[in-house]
Amino acid sequence: MHARQRLAQTFDSAEELAEYQRQNPASLSRFEGAKAVIPGGNTRLTAYFAPYPFYAVKGEGSRIYDLDGNVRLDFYNNATSLIFGHAYPPVVAAISDQASKGTAFAVPTEPEVELAQLLTAHIPSVEKIRFTNSGTEGVLFAIRAARVFTGRDKIAKFEGGYHGTADHVSISVTPDLALTGDTRRPTPVLASAGITPNTVDDVIILPFNDLQGTTAILTAHQDEVAAVLVEPILGSCGYVPAQPEFLQGLRELTQRLGMLLIFDEVQTFRLSSGGAQALLGIMPDLTVLGKIIGGGLPVGGVGGRSDVMAAFDATTGTPKIPHAGTFNGNPVTMRAGLATLRDVGPAAYDRLDQRGSDLRQRLQALGDRYGVPIQVTGAGSLFGIHWSAEPVTDYRSAARANKSLSYKFFLHALNNGIFFTTRGGGCLSIPMTDAEVGAFLDVLEGFLKKITTG
Ligand SMILES: Cc1ncc(COP(=O)(O)O)c(C=O)c1O
Repeated sequence: MHARQRLAQTFDSAEELAEYQRQNPASLSRFEGAKAVIPGGNTRLTAYFAPYPFYAVKGEGSRIYDLDGNVRLDFYNNATSLIFGHAYPPVVAAISDQASKGTAFAVPTEPEVELAQLLTAHIPSVEKIRFTNSGTEGVLFAIRAARVFTGRDKIAKFEGGYHGTADHVSISVTPDLALTGDTRRPTPVLASAGITPNTVDDVIILPFNDLQGTTAILTAHQDEVAAVLVEPILGSCGYVPAQPEFLQGLRELTQRLGMLLIFDEVQTFRLSSGGAQALLGIMPDLTVLGKIIGGGLPVGGVGGRSDVMAAFDATTGTPKIPHAGTFNGNPVTMRAGLATLRDVGPAAYDRLDQRGSDLRQRLQALGDRYGVPIQVTGAGSLFGIHWSAEPVTDYRSAARANKSLSYKFFLHALNNGIFFTTRGGGCLSIPMTDAEVGAFLDVLEGFLKKITTG
């Protein structure tokens, strides 16, 4: 069958589903019980997949053990948040030591200062930082800080950009392509019910990797936009990188128009000790952090220019932005973050980069060898597999890839000892070796054989 015809097909996953159910009966029964007390059976959308997720009982390095006794290589690492994989011994030691001393106090502790010192030393654009308990909160406070600093109300984000679940970023995250409108002037599409429709009035949606389109839109709104929020790599689209010149252009444009540039590095901070911005040589005004900076515990943060961050300062009177939070900067998270980040040296990033690019190249080569068009995207330790014949450069091209084939491969991988995501995105962790990379490639090859001969 011609490649394009194959990609237009809807793939039936019945065989993989049956095998998944055969391998995971205990998880099914747990999930059935869970649905009686939790709507949808669990508390986190991204931890659900059809027909039901397996229940993890233990993680160790690159492996997850489940309730049914299956062991899988974890190529998702709690949505990229575990750079050392599971239960990294120095993190376990730091957490248990701190737990024995107390987990939370309504006064500051030293680890908070130490983590702030480490992060400000590593990220040139981050002069000051405040911690939150999630990336969502980091984004929310970055937006407030930008509004206070500029005196403007609107924010601009890119189509397909995921920045957590606050109202103003829950727009055009994974919109139905039929609703997205003109490629160069994307129509804002609410991503959740329960958000007031006029939230859309404060949000401008931009076309990713399209500097001309972005320039036209921002110029038309130049006195209204407080900040442009961008992920250096579109995560939820399956790790689609921004072109460096696009981000460079965006930096110049926002500066010219008096808008702040906010980098959402919740995921991309795992690319280097200074995040994607250090690799690109770009200084955003604000940066949102999360995931790996908490060493596997709940965390987030917003940092950046001192003059912008001054809005949070309570030492000179009532702060312009009251930033409270019962568990903000709690010492357990801070110590887990420190135990992680202190151990990721340049050699570890180099190894992750090399393994990541090796994996991406070999995945692409396998698709080419079997005549099945796939597009492999990503950078550093992040990778995305898109079942598509067209280059994937933004949300729309990612959304046009064959989703039923992506889901079928996801199930096939699960049944063969690999966990990653239904949309084809994944990441490596430091303990992974060539053996784990080889295991992933073998699973893809087995799948390609199956679909080309079956
Ligand atoms: C780029 C990005 N920003 C923000 C968030 C939100 O972070 P959290 O889930 O900690 O609220 C995420 C989470 O996946 C993310 O990937």
